[in-house]
This record gives sequence, structure tokens and C-alpha cells, in this order.
Amino acid sequence: MLKETKRTDPELAELVEEELVRQENCIEMIASESTVPVPIMELSGSVFTNKTLEGYPGARFQAGAEVADKMERLAWERAKALFGAEHVNIQSYSGSTANYSVFASVLKPSDKILAMRLDQGGHLTHGSPANWMSKFYNHVFYGCNKETEQIDYDELEKLAHEEKPRLIICGASSYPRLIDYERIGKIAADVGAYSMCDMAHVAGLVASKIIPSPFPYMDFVTSSTTKTFCSARSGMVFCKEKYAKLLDHGTFPGSLGSIHLHTMAAKCWSFRYAATQEFHDTMAQVVKNAQHLAVELQKRGFRIVSGGTDNHLLVVDLRNKGVTGKTMQNALDQAGISVNKNVIPFDPEKPFITSGIRIGLTSVTQRGLKEPEITEIAEIIDQVTRAPEDEANISACRKKAEALVSRFPLYPAGSFDD
Ligand SMILES: Cc1ncc(COP(=O)(O)O)c(C=O)c1O
Repeated sequence: MLKETKRTDPELAELVEEELVRQENCIEMIASESTVPVPIMELSGSVFTNKTLEGYPGARFQAGAEVADKMERLAWERAKALFGAEHVNIQSYSGSTANYSVFASVLKPSDKILAMRLDQGGHLTHGSPANWMSKFYNHVFYGCNKETEQIDYDELEKLAHEEKPRLIICGASSYPRLIDYERIGKIAADVGAYSMCDMAHVAGLVASKIIPSPFPYMDFVTSSTTKTFCSARSGMVFCKEKYAKLLDHGTFPGSLGSIHLHTMAAKCWSFRYAATQEFHDTMAQVVKNAQHLAVELQKRGFRIVSGGTDNHLLVVDLRNKGVTGKTMQNALDQAGISVNKNVIPFDPEKPFITSGIRIGLTSVTQRGLKEPEITEIAEIIDQVTRAPEDEANISACRKKAEALVSRFPLYPAGSFDD
């Protein structure tokens, strides 16, 4: 790996090697992470990165587009077949810009957006005051029911009728349950709003039909292509055919510049790979592992937000363990398990402290860990929680974590031989 970088910039090459070793030795459980297959790295570093292009196949602003046109069209066909979509635009650079291109396509400044509260699972780009979208649009928010910790659809419906938003967004960053896309799509239609699902976290599970698809019910579906989709760091947007022109115009020239053809090629590979049995089996195991971890943690006295999970992630309420999310994130990190602190619904703690952690199962499942190893992880998490600031305890946990992952290589031997 990195033959020419080693020759021309050994200092930087060493940092890449160091990061590989870090990833090898770590139990990676940040819910937005996954490990890309080697072809994604090859294609992301391919000669497509040299080409500057704007516009769409058959209507480009620069010469020399004939090969890129074939590739973008191939990616369209694969993506539409994979998700059963009517129209796709794969020029987004990320999940965030995927959302921005929908906003640029159908909204006018000061239009109203109804989205899920950030502190109950929603995403920054859906209307956080810290995100620049809040300067252009008026946001109103729905949230979870306090008892069930699941989306309060009655509140959502009431708000939609009262506020008459132009766009209703569903999809979340830390929501462990299935979303009733059919009901939300109907509510949007009833109040004359566009509907949009941001499936960034669950795209891989949707592609392999492990969980229900938002496509039949939503006008727009956006996503990043990392997370469970396990592809390049990029994005994608789908819509009903009747909005195709609006979406394409809103994407380019509406909100983006020249295309990242190298990551487009990588996404194109994934649109084929995600239809394979191998990917399907991995995604099925991701959900089994998440559900197994929820049960194993519950057996050890942890409270799981909403009582469990239907997808790749779970949110753990640590209040009964007398430890905050921040302390736990640090302690687990020292012990070789990477998670992030996360607010729980109606969290009494501040977002920088939090009462919870979010745990994702994609990366460890890709490495081959199954239920017996997930039980070992639950045991280590429990041991860390019992004395998160005791160095001897953390160092003992780290030994266990490293011994566990050393049995499951991050990449097959020889993947990076020069
Ligand atoms: C629901 C959701 N949408 C969008 C994004 C943004 O994606 P990206 O980081 O690819 O811009 C995220 C990332 O965490 C997310 O969770």
C-alpha cells in the first residue's frame, strides 16, 4: 500500500500505516462507521479523479466526457434497480449535500420544514440552529413519546396540520426503531407537503431488504453512502420521476459544482455489490448482532432506549449505572472500544456530557464477529462501566478487547501488498 507516498512523503505514509494499525486493534462501534471493501479504495484512487466535469451525461460543460457518461449511466441503472427507485442523482458529495440538493430543488427561503428533533435522533442538516439551513428555512420539530421513546406519530400529524410545512423529513442519526414511512408519507400528502426520508444510517439495510423501504412512500430519499451502505464517503438522492428535473437542477447547478467521478465510480461498484447474497448476509447479521448486544447488555442491568433495536444501532441509557456518556466514551476508548456519547430522549444532561452512548454493529459484523463475540463485548462494556476511571481495570479490558479483534482481521491478509 502507498508505494509512491512512502517514497515521496514517508512521514505521511507512516500516519496512514498508524491509522491502519489503530483500526486493526480497535473494536469499532461508532454507528456511522463501516469498513470499505478494497475495490472502493482502488476506485476512489482511480484516474477518474483527474477529470473535471459538470452537468449530466449527454449535456456536459466540458469535453472528454464519453467514458464518464457511460460510468454515470451505469451507476444510475444499478442504483435504481437496487432500491426500486424511479429516478436517482448520484452527484452528491455526502449525505449532508444530498439533503441540501433536495432543499435547493423544492424550497424557497423561509419555507417551513417539519423534522425530527436533533436531541431525539434527528440530524444537524434537518434544522439544528447550529446548521446554516436554519438561516434559510423555518423549522418545526416532532419527537418521541416519553413512554415508548419511539416517534410520536400523533404529534407529528397534529403539527403537520397546524403548521402546514412545505417539507416533512423523516430518518435519523440515532433512532434504533423502524419508521412508519407509509404513515408519514400519507400525512405529508394530506397537508400538501413534500416528503423526504434521509436513510443515511440504514441505506445498507434497506438495499438488502432487511428492513422496510421508504421508497414506495416518499417523494425524495437521500443518503450518505458510508455507514451501513459501506461505500465511498459520498452521497445519493432519489425521487419520484415527476420531480426528476427539479432534483437534477437543484443539484447542479443549484447546489453543487463539478462531479467527484472517483467516488461516483466507487458508488457504482457498491450498487452492484449491495445486491449480492454476501452483502445481504452481512446486513442480516448486523441486525442480529445489534439485537443480541441489546439483550446481553439488558442481562447486565443496562437500560436500552426504547427497549431494544430493529436496526444496526442501539442507544444505552447509563443513568442507573452512575456514569455519563462522556465518561463512558472516554473509558471505552481507553479500553479499545470506540463508541460515541449520545443524548437519550429527554436527556437531563447537556449534549457535551449526555446520559447515553450510541453503539453500532456494522464494522464489527463486517470483520466476522457473531453472537458469541458480541457477548464477549457486552462483558467488556460491563466491566468498563463498573470502574471507568480505574487504570488497572481499563488496561485489563483493553487486553481482552485486543485479543478478541486480533482473531478477526480488518482486511484479508495480502490486501495491501505492493
Ligand atoms: C441521518 C443523517 N443524515 C445525514 C448525515 C450526513 O452525512 P455526511 O456525513 O455523509 O454528510 C448523517 C451523518 O451522520 C446522518 O446521520
